[in-house]
Amino acid sequence: MTAAQVTAPATGQGAVQMTAKRAGPLKGTLRAPGDKSISHRALILGALAHGLTEVEGLLEGDDVKRTAAAMAAFGAGVERVGEGRWRIAGKGGFAEPTDVIDCGNAGTGVRLIMGAAAGFDLSATFTGDASLRGRPMNRVLTPLGQMGATWICREGGRLPLTLRGGRLRHIDYRLPEPSAQVKSAVLLAGLNAQGGAGVMEPQATRDHTERMLRAFGAEVNVTEDSAGGRRIELPGGQSLTGVKVVVPGDPSSAAFPLVAALITPGSVVTVEGMLLNPLRIGLLETLGDMGADLSVTNVREEGGETVADVTARYSELVGVEVPPERAPSMIDEYPILGVAAAFAAGPTVMRGIGEMRVKESDRIALMAAGLSACGVGVEEGPDSLTVVGSVRANHGVRGGAKVATHGDHRIAMSHLILGLASAEPVAVDDPQMIATSFPGFLDLMRALGAEIEA
Ligand code: S3P
Repeated sequence: MTAAQVTAPATGQGAVQMTAKRAGPLKGTLRAPGDKSISHRALILGALAHGLTEVEGLLEGDDVKRTAAAMAAFGAGVERVGEGRWRIAGKGGFAEPTDVIDCGNAGTGVRLIMGAAAGFDLSATFTGDASLRGRPMNRVLTPLGQMGATWICREGGRLPLTLRGGRLRHIDYRLPEPSAQVKSAVLLAGLNAQGGAGVMEPQATRDHTERMLRAFGAEVNVTEDSAGGRRIELPGGQSLTGVKVVVPGDPSSAAFPLVAALITPGSVVTVEGMLLNPLRIGLLETLGDMGADLSVTNVREEGGETVADVTARYSELVGVEVPPERAPSMIDEYPILGVAAAFAAGPTVMRGIGEMRVKESDRIALMAAGLSACGVGVEEGPDSLTVVGSVRANHGVRGGAKVATHGDHRIAMSHLILGLASAEPVAVDDPQMIATSFPGFLDLMRALGAEIEA
């Protein structure tokens, strides 16, 4: 299949508002969509590998479809063979694309692909939607530059950007911020660098790249230090071989129906096949600390990752202080944690979350604005957010606002969940971007009994 046959989706156009209202309890069982992080990596590693990679359970959200289109543009054979089932015929490397690579809304997509492309003798121009064009790329360009890649871009390391790859040298890079995207970009560049690459991360971040590189036959050596940091060494001169990848359910998406059940009286909701990678379960730990009734059953290994079925029952939550060192393991889940905290007794304090300001939107600012528009007390700091909570659990949230999402899928889903348990309906101005990570959100939530009007 050629690049033209893998059509990239259009995102963020023709916004229509969506409104969630209080209804009966939420009941039922669902499968979370495929994990977004693992889906991007399966396509990229499949394209870098020699031979066939078969993927099952791929997230067919807009972000991942952009990466599929990009892999075709770099010369891989990319074919959809059924629902969530994709085949990638890897060529063992990237060829120069003949058109601009548009990664849409996907920070993970563009940063990992730039890392992977940097080790080849090619030029590639990357762009994205307005949100992605505003996000910092310097964090990836700095190490890639030290390895020998060059680029031209807008001021401040913003997209659009033309990257010139080539012969790279070894790097020993210490991550200045906890970012699995930067770590992964360096490791993927290291695949084609003389002597490979080493990354030191003072705080451990999601390790899907390391796990998947091993599954594709690469040697990756990881050592942990006593302070929770990790050193990852990818020796040079390695090549990848295509494999079968089974993508588990995304805990960052499962978080929405699970929290909805915790705050909606009488609810019992089970999410099947949810990824329980230890570096992704910070939200479950935090909700447990808050007194959430969560049960984890049917724990099993699938495709090199631990998965399980997770059941949430309506609970009386209490506010907590979230340990800042937990942030990397739940960085995408703070918006929905803010919603759970609004129904908890007493304050929930979230510190060390400055990275939230450079996601698809400034998520600290937008959660503070959305929650306070719905009558929830909040205090915003440069890298913190406190949700004041209520005098007693489930004392009630007023709601009754239309929230500005700035095209951020997780801001939209979080406020819709808030609306399911608020006294007055909550509307979001732009639900279109939900499809970037959770295309079936509306149907799945309605099947559980949620009242959400589009
Ligand atoms: C991701 C890493 C995180 C996360 C993003 C997915 C990944 O970003 O927020 O949604 O797949 O590596 P950072 O690496 O910027 O923290």
